[in-house]
Parts: sequence; C-alpha cells; structure tokens
Amino acid sequence: MTNQTDPTGDVRLTGISKTYGAFTAVHPLDLTVPQGSFFALLGASGCGKTTTLRMIAGLEEPSSGTVFLGDQDVTALPPYKRPVNTVFQSYALFPHLDIFENVAFGLRRRGWKSVKKQVEEMLDLVQLGEQARKKPHQLSGGQQQRVAVARALINHPKVLLLDEPLGALDLKLRRQMQLELKRIQTEVGITFIHVTHDQEEAMTMADTVAVMNAGRVEQLGTPADLYENPRTTFVANFLGTSNFIEAEVDSKSGDDIVLKAGGGKLLLPEARCGAPTTTGGKVLVGVRPEKISLTHADDAGEIPEGRNRITGRIADSSFIGVSTQYVVDSPVCADFEVYAQNLDRDPRLVPGAEVVLHWNPAHTFGLDATQDADAGVEEAA
Ligand SMILES: Nc1ncnc2c1ncn2[C@@H]1O[C@H](COP(=O)(O)OP(=O)(O)OP(=O)(O)O)[C@@H](O)[C@H]1O
Ligand SMILES: [Mg+2]
Repeated sequence: MTNQTDPTGDVRLTGISKTYGAFTAVHPLDLTVPQGSFFALLGASGCGKTTTLRMIAGLEEPSSGTVFLGDQDVTALPPYKRPVNTVFQSYALFPHLDIFENVAFGLRRRGWKSVKKQVEEMLDLVQLGEQARKKPHQLSGGQQQRVAVARALINHPKVLLLDEPLGALDLKLRRQMQLELKRIQTEVGITFIHVTHDQEEAMTMADTVAVMNAGRVEQLGTPADLYENPRTTFVANFLGTSNFIEAEVDSKSGDDIVLKAGGGKLLLPEARCGAPTTTGGKVLVGVRPEKISLTHADDAGEIPEGRNRITGRIADSSFIGVSTQYVVDSPVCADFEVYAQNLDRDPRLVPGAEVVLHWNPAHTFGLDATQDADAGVEEAA
C-alpha cells in the first residue's frame, strides 16, 4: 500500500460551491481526499465534476468555501502556485517537440540544465523509454496519454488531477490504460483525483469514489461499498443495475424486517434498510441481478428454506457467453433482471417459462420509497 496517513497532503474542500448567475453548478460541498489515494469523481454529464476539479486546480474561482492542501489554504492562489497538475482529455502535447522534450518541458521552464535522468525515469515509469525521440503524432492515443501523465508527474505535484483523460480512447485501449494509470499511481504514491462518467472505470481504478448528481455528492465510499450498500436509487442504478420491489413493513423477526410485497413476504436485514421501519411504512426493496437464482416453477420445492422468493415468467433472455441475462415479469415488479452464470443451463429456462426468483435475504437492501425508483437509470445508459 502506498496510501499514506500523513494529513499534510490531504485535499480538503470545505463548503466549496460554484454558481453561474442563478444556476448552481456545484452546491456547497465538503470533501476530503486523503494523501496518496486514488479518488474518482463519478457522475453524468453536467453534474459538476469538471467544475469541482477546476476549483481544486485554481482554474475556477469558487463562489463560496475553501480549498486546503494539507494545512495550507490555497483558495486565493493562482494555479501555477499550487502543487497541483492537471491532465485533460485533450492531452495538448507540443506537436513540434519530441516525447523527451515534451516531458522535460516543466523542468526546463524552471531553469533546470540537466534533465536527462529525471526525464528518463519518467519515460520508464510510463513505459515509453523507447519512444523518446518520436513526435507526438507518431504515437498511439494511449501512448500520447501516457506522455501527458509523465509531463505532469515530472513536476512532482502533490496532487494530479485527471479530467476524463481516457475519453478519446477506444474501449479496449481505455481498459488497458485504466490498469496502467492505476499502476503508475501505486508506484508514485501521489494523490490522483480522476473525473469520469464511466462507472466501470471509476470502480476499476479508484480506492474511493464520490458519486455526483446535479452538483452534489450523493454518496462516497469504496467501489464495493457503493455497489453493495447504495443509499439512494440514483447510486443503485448509476452503479450497475438494481431491481426494486415496492413493499410494506409488516413486522420484525430477529435482525430482519418482514415486508409484504404482492401476496408474499420478503426478509430484509434491518441494518441494510435506509428507510423508516414503522409498520405499514413503504420500503423500496433492492436486489442486484447477479444475486438472484432462477428455478423453473416445477422445481420450486427444491429451493432451500429461508430464501426470499418471488414468482414470475421469463419475458426475454440473452446469452452473452459468461452469463445469460434474463428479464422476468413478476406481479411485484415488471422487468426484473437476473444474471445467471453459465454453469449448468436448464433448457427449460426460455421466454414464457414460469419461474421462481430466489436469493439470500442478506443480499437485499432497503431504500426510502419516496424516491424515484428509476433515478439514475438514463444517466447510466
Ligand atoms: N462558464 C460557465 N457558465 C455557465 N454555466 C457553466 C459554465 N461552466 C459550466 N457550467 C454549467 O455547470 C454545470 C456543470 O458543468 P461541468 O463542466 O462541471 O460538468 P461535468 O460534470 O464535468 O460534465 P461532463 O461530463 O459533460 O464534462 C453544467 O450544467 C454546465 O453547463
Ligand atoms: Mg467535464
């Protein structure tokens, strides 16, 4: 682990906001990014990611609030006086300079005479030692992107800001570069704040993800925590897919809440419920598609006791190699999604088949039913 606990390098935003006339791009925001962490700001287009990043860089003046780097209040400092560098989506390399000179640029500007050792170290770090004498147009998109990272890192910033740096790359190269950037960050141990609208990208790379929605951070946590314990329907839908059943609180049984949905009962661990649990209250019961098993109705007797179960009919199925994705119509929820790993495929599980969906109650989460169950669905698409 390169994560350091030295608080002198944390990025701390307190009450930071940005308004343009009557429009609020970023609502007052408190956020701490620990030194050495790989932090992602994730959200749909227009939610305020770039604006937040630009306020950290000093490229945008906040309407309120303070930016701290460690103990230093940098809010009034111009960008070049902050120990921060930014890599943008368009890498903006100098076309007439070769790769070596592109990377050396920051040092030369500060009057360094001998830069060879530093530049070579940086080129090795991004695995471009062989390409030093090429011009930017002779490199692939991914290679150019790595030059941009090297050019920023050679200044030894405390924080590297990355604004959709992989946006211009095709999918395969993007996946490769995600791992590459993660490796570089681990090696140098510098704080990376990475802006993206791609949830898979944020989950692959970051230690901590802040999910932004309409100028606010909706939830912050590790990728696994956000995925397993979403606190809003927006987060549940924006990160992966969630099924929701509207249910009513019936009673309590040990650590579980018993809920009524349709004619049946569902169990929900009380600790995983973010809604009021008074009897008669409404809860949105959430469950991820890969947590659910599908059993043909004829075999319903074989389903172990103690699992949550609902009945339905397969409306659609698509075979995608590692798994089959089913859409099931159920009286309690239209378009229930189920992902089944391709182990032993039951040939009876085809559109039209009557099925029982069942899952471990521990994999159920409960959300406040006053929210829109479809929030974040479109944005994630
Ligand atoms: N200079 C400006 N004047 C007025 N509105 C602005 C200005 N800059 C940004 N905005 C608005 O602020 C909101 C947030 O913009 P921002 O660039 O931070 O979004 P983003 O999350 O980075 O989106 P994207 O993923 O599309 O890059 C948007 O609605 C945008 O139109
Ligand atoms: Mg942006």
